[in-house]
Amino acid sequence: MAAIRAVLAFLAGLQHLRTAAAGSPWVYSDNALIPDGTIRITTLGSGSPDVRKEQLASGFLVEVGNKQQDKFIFDLGTGAYINLWATGVPMAQLTKVFITHLHSDHHADLASLYVGAMFGRRQPWEVWGPSGEEPQLGTAAAVEGLRQFMAWDTHARRRIDLVGRKDDGDKVVVHEFDHRVKNQVVLDRNGVRVTATPVEHYRTGGPVAYRMDWQGLSFTYSGDTRPTDTLSQLAKGSNVFIMQNMGPIEDLAGLSFESQLLINTSHITPQQAGAIFAATQPRLAVAHHLTVNAASRAAIIQDIRKGYPKGELIINEDLNVYEITRNSVKVKRRLVPPRSWGFWHAESNWQQQQQKQVLLSEAAVASL
Ligand SMILES: *[C@@H]1O[C@H](CO)[C@@H](O)[C@H](O)[C@H]1NC(C)=O
Ligand SMILES: [Zn+2]
Repeated sequence: MAAIRAVLAFLAGLQHLRTAAAGSPWVYSDNALIPDGTIRITTLGSGSPDVRKEQLASGFLVEVGNKQQDKFIFDLGTGAYINLWATGVPMAQLTKVFITHLHSDHHADLASLYVGAMFGRRQPWEVWGPSGEEPQLGTAAAVEGLRQFMAWDTHARRRIDLVGRKDDGDKVVVHEFDHRVKNQVVLDRNGVRVTATPVEHYRTGGPVAYRMDWQGLSFTYSGDTRPTDTLSQLAKGSNVFIMQNMGPIEDLAGLSFESQLLINTSHITPQQAGAIFAATQPRLAVAHHLTVNAASRAAIIQDIRKGYPKGELIINEDLNVYEITRNSVKVKRRLVPPRSWGFWHAESNWQQQQQKQVLLSEAAVASL
């Protein structure tokens, strides 16, 4: 009951926010400093290849309230850059990217982010991602191909660079790691630890899930996978568990052979997700990578609840925010301006934004 009430409160909250957003000419975001003891996850895209204006493909912005105010991107699929840009976070702070796997709905918008050197990135762009079964299928090869894809773009932008930038914004450092290694720490910096573990997707080696730990706070993001022990192990005890789902699937046996094969080898159904949430017991369970609309929502919740009758549960939507602290996990909605702020990503504008904007509203609070 508490969980249903939380979902209802959340929906009511969103209704309220939408009204506020429509009625006001002003901007809603929250670019204030992230308080110490807080991890904030913003959903840039909650969707899948079934991309649409309401739901961009998978991507997350993760902000950590440490001294460095570290920011991380986890996946940046088709369209997710739109919401990243809309948050107004300066490019200078968006240097660290983690990719779960090299499917377009998880990495296609990297090209737009790569151009960020033009918009204020001054440090090298760092990309973490798995190796492939062969060198040319790994993250390093993908990034090298991306640089080639963007060669004219980079060259032309430098031509009209009148100030003669001499920073490292165009440089790229790829941290490709062996995708076969379980529970591998791939980043340990400023107190933030990111661990990767292999998952199973499309019968092709490479895909991983990630977990971040900082000051006893944690979240796990599954990437795309079928149910695997490695994922459950990684997620165990994490505060927030963002799990890829595909469905609802009323009748697996009624699907075509191809669809069955796709689900069985590559994805987690909402019903399976319920069982995995029950086994891993996160403080907040987030069902992600679903096509969410009025018709699908109830069926998805019903399916997940078969195996996970209790516990806080959210069906992910674009710009949902999960704020983790020692005492709570808060669910919010990030409000972004209806129109672009142009070059507001510049550091100078950022300072002004910090003073003006504190209006990220609290839609609901998921209790412990
Ligand atoms: C998919 O899994 C279901 C349930 O385990 C099974 O009945 C079905 O035969 C499988 N289909 C394929 C194509 O693998
Ligand atoms: Zn996907």
